[in-house]
Amino acid sequence: MSNWNHKHIIDLSTFSVRDYETILELANRFKALPQKGPRKLPALQGKLIANLFFEPSTRTRSSFELAAKRLSADVLNFSANISSLSKGETPLDTALTYISMGADILIVRHESTNLPSELASYLDKSGEETSILNAGDGLHSHPSQGLLDLFTLARYFNPEKPLPNALSNKKIAIIGDILHSRVARSNLWALTGCGADVILCGPPSLLPEDFENFVKEPPPGQTIDPINKRGKVLINRSLKDALEDIDAIMTLRIQKERMNNNLISSLERYKQDYEINHQRLKWCKKNVPILHPGPVNRDIEMSGEILDDKSYSLVREQVENSIPIRMALLYLLSSKKQT
Ligand code: CP
Repeated sequence: MSNWNHKHIIDLSTFSVRDYETILELANRFKALPQKGPRKLPALQGKLIANLFFEPSTRTRSSFELAAKRLSADVLNFSANISSLSKGETPLDTALTYISMGADILIVRHESTNLPSELASYLDKSGEETSILNAGDGLHSHPSQGLLDLFTLARYFNPEKPLPNALSNKKIAIIGDILHSRVARSNLWALTGCGADVILCGPPSLLPEDFENFVKEPPPGQTIDPINKRGKVLINRSLKDALEDIDAIMTLRIQKERMNNNLISSLERYKQDYEINHQRLKWCKKNVPILHPGPVNRDIEMSGEILDDKSYSLVREQVENSIPIRMALLYLLSSKKQT
């Protein structure tokens, strides 16, 4: 993995096509390991991974733990509600506590946008070798989710060779609460970076117009985009039109916990306008796959029937693929040649 040069994984705006290739190639190798019998590889023996989740999680936290254990790392799980945060400890001091215990990688989820990048800068300035892996920060970024979505789509479009070019010239619709979605932002970087066009659809309150420019400028803090030719981002307010001619649909959770300005009149109204169900799939090409990062509000973003219908829904496959993708990320951060 001599071309890998990321010490931390904060967002996907700095990733090149070669980075995506490296991750997907490695995830493919981990995915091909036997699913029964002894499944541990010695690659991260002696490494300590700390899961610092200041916000709730089911799948991200558990799959990072499983990924670390499959690579023989030791794992510490921090739970905000039984921690010393209630006594006034700051996230920085929590992080430093785990570093003092020998953590090689801190996997951080926090409600504050940019907390993982601030921790990474602090560690770099202090000469600490520990890596930060962002597991979701505020509205900003959820890179490992973007990568597992990319992997799932690449496997769907080209099962024999699920690499970034499997996405080239595909059209992916992302539907719903884009405004609050760090998953959508990470997918915008990853999908356009691999040559797909993204069609966004949602109500204006949850999908501001300027999302069309999201990937047009060089990423924040950079003078050039590491991707030569990105796919386009388009907004289409009509669900029927947005679904026409697309190759895959990604629906997003309505984030009730971040919705503080009556941005939608009611969940029932949202369901009427945007729920993906069997009726609406008639607007699409045949057998269009449907992704959702989870957790799903059943019968709001997508009908329970579609969610459970494996001929359409890739949701369970996304969870399965999260393990080899997160194994790949932990492996790469533990390998050296980092800047
Ligand atoms: N997709 C996702 O981040 O799910 P969790 O909140 O359960 O980790």
